[in-house]
Amino acid sequence: EQIEKDGYDHFMLKEIYQQPEAIKDTYRGRLHANEGLIRMAGVEDNLQRFLNADRILIVACGTSWHAGLVAEYIFEEFTRVPVEVEYASEFRYRNPVIRENDVVIAISQSGETADTLAAIKLAKDHGAFVFGVCNVVGSSISRETHAGAYTHAGPEIGVASTKAFTTQITVLALIALRLAQAKGTVTNSDFHRHLQELELIPEKVEKALETNDVAETIAGIYKDAPNCLYLGRGFNFPVALEGALKLKEISYIHAEGYPAAEMKHGPIALIDEQMPVVVIAQKQEHYDKIVSNIQEIKSRSGKIIAVVTKGDTQVRELADHVIEIPKTVDALSPLLTTIPLQLLSYHIAVMRGCNVDQPRNLAKSVTVE
Ligand code: G6P
Repeated sequence: EQIEKDGYDHFMLKEIYQQPEAIKDTYRGRLHANEGLIRMAGVEDNLQRFLNADRILIVACGTSWHAGLVAEYIFEEFTRVPVEVEYASEFRYRNPVIRENDVVIAISQSGETADTLAAIKLAKDHGAFVFGVCNVVGSSISRETHAGAYTHAGPEIGVASTKAFTTQITVLALIALRLAQAKGTVTNSDFHRHLQELELIPEKVEKALETNDVAETIAGIYKDAPNCLYLGRGFNFPVALEGALKLKEISYIHAEGYPAAEMKHGPIALIDEQMPVVVIAQKQEHYDKIVSNIQEIKSRSGKIIAVVTKGDTQVRELADHVIEIPKTVDALSPLLTTIPLQLLSYHIAVMRGCNVDQPRNLAKSVTVE
């Protein structure tokens, strides 16, 4: 096992550090930024099915569901097709409306999650086209779906999902951009810009991994906090959910993710000088809104840990701690903002003496209900 960990203390840390390579493996052969091409067999072979869909349903569980939420923002932004993201466990039991021309995308690292598998069967029974985004080759979900695209992240051993999440977002962004190109819902220049940015993501993830020391220092300060709040907006709202999930899963600290503006409808009541609030505050659309959310936290003495864009000065003045990551286009920023949140949870869990790779009560894949 020590050999498999490659010198890292835990599989989770190894997998966090594998992300630049994993993301490259995900887009290798699919993304041709110079030629302005995206080629994915599963999408090309079923292009008409995708183009005919007037709605996309995404079904998944856990971290994969969070990747689905990021995808909802990306698909709607580029393809203008309405997207609904469902917990597979709810979808399967709530008599959902499924139409023959719906495209259902099932996301699953393991490809074995019982609820997701059941949701797929239900969608197929209603005549929908079901596309799988799985990591494990030959898994039940990859066999049960009509077509799909693998994430090619390599084996993920740590129960808390890391590289599966970022590679799922990568695949889904590729699909969204390809469909947008085919539909003509993205301008040529935007399309090319996003392809080029996607190609730069692995080296920017490397840079984001350099926040490890800062994350460790911050972890040392807040490791005994009983609660933690995560806030984000837009493409980074699901990252707030995922950041909170990571912390809960491996450190057993109660954490909640919230859309930053929704804070005033509840979580703001919890904020005092004891409450660390992690805010994803990228220099992107609605930056001024997130700045005012941060001011609201500050005026209630909350402790602010902000994930900012390199060079940011405004948030730096307000926050107690800043974690700087490189700039990219808004739609792809979750691939970077999620990195320091993974590292923060990891270090907090290690400092609390938790079993990082095998947290209590959790399973890598939930194959029974
Ligand atoms: C379990 C794992 C999570 C994972 C979820 C969905 O809860 O602990 O890490 O996100 O299942 O798994 P899947 O394999 O379908 O992505």
